[in-house]
Amino acid sequence: MSVDRVRLEKRIGELSAIGGSGTSVTRLGLSPEEQRARDLIGGWLRARGATVWRDPAANVYGRFGGAGPAILVGSHIDSVPEGGRFDGALGVLCAVEAVGALLDDDVGFRRPVEVVGWCDEEGARFGIGLFGSGATFGRLPDGAAQRADRLGITIAHALRTIGESGDPTTAKREPGEFAAYLELHIEQGPRLADAGIPLGVVSGIVGILHARVTVRGRQDHAGATIMTAREDALAAAAEMVLAVETAARALPDAVGTVGEISVRPGAKNVVPGECVFSLDLRARNEQTVEQLARDVRAAIRRIGDARGLRSTLDVLSRVPAVPLDPKLRDLFLRSARAVGVEAPELFSGAGHDAENSQLAGVPTGMLFVRSTGGSHNPNELAALDDAVLGARALSLALKELAG
Ligand code: GLV
Ligand code: MN
Ligand code: MN
Repeated sequence: MSVDRVRLEKRIGELSAIGGSGTSVTRLGLSPEEQRARDLIGGWLRARGATVWRDPAANVYGRFGGAGPAILVGSHIDSVPEGGRFDGALGVLCAVEAVGALLDDDVGFRRPVEVVGWCDEEGARFGIGLFGSGATFGRLPDGAAQRADRLGITIAHALRTIGESGDPTTAKREPGEFAAYLELHIEQGPRLADAGIPLGVVSGIVGILHARVTVRGRQDHAGATIMTAREDALAAAAEMVLAVETAARALPDAVGTVGEISVRPGAKNVVPGECVFSLDLRARNEQTVEQLARDVRAAIRRIGDARGLRSTLDVLSRVPAVPLDPKLRDLFLRSARAVGVEAPELFSGAGHDAENSQLAGVPTGMLFVRSTGGSHNPNELAALDDAVLGARALSLALKELAG
């Protein structure tokens, strides 16, 4: 299988240069950087003879072959702010490379193959994760197009800026258009690195609840307002953040994170009048996600009541925990074995576009590539040897499904 190591390495460099500074990459959903990345990927695919298009949710596709249900393969092209070079990007690069290797080997496609680069998987800008795949598989939250970033720019506006209609729901495709979805991704945790194994196969993906909490206090003078007369929104939020940590620690396999917080009006001599923070709650099974959400809601209410403050919790998105397709899991286990790796099965604590396809009824499989340095930071690293192994295993799986 002629995966081209030099070509892959060169493209990792080209893609990570877009929005990149050193090993840090900032390529937010629907940003000019994300658009440049789409153009680059589209160009690679077009050069290999694919029909390339961007859909109304700004996903980029390249299709090889004729009519009929396609094998879809890819990952996302956006990043978190100050993220790394590989989360999402490696899956798109290896999909392009896996198809390229089959074309180089003159493998004719029995079924059509579509390579996809999903738009805005991270949701870092507008708060809706898995955006592009959510649009494609009809799983966007209601009113998604009207969600705005910090500057008040809505998704609809950002889409219109790049020439789309502004309605991402029109990107929806029927699950029957796809025979399978395959996604390669870096592991984002330490299990493969700790075990000294380059590849893993994903058994299932975590359930996620994203929400925004708004705490309303009373804006006041920091010098003239005595401590007992304050309604400090940030002090209440600080207690709530710690309560999220406590609640998640109390449940097995649950995690809870507050990664964003903003304070109004935000001046050192003003008692904060309003505080907004994000909630990211996850667990392997649905009951635990629901339990965690209940515990966090109760703690937020209790803390607000004790301080005499009002707060609201708005759910922004909810993706259920999902097991992936057992046949595709076995296919990836075989493909990994064929490139010399006894890959373990791993559960994913990170969210992936693969959740949307599987939940929509498209059989979905995921292959993990070992990474070091954690993830969602500039130290994220998949070694080139491992990326090549991943691309080869992906290529073999694709050959079996479509070749
Ligand atoms: C994506 O990386 C997520 O799990 O939030
Ligand atoms: Mn990510
Ligand atoms: Mn990712």
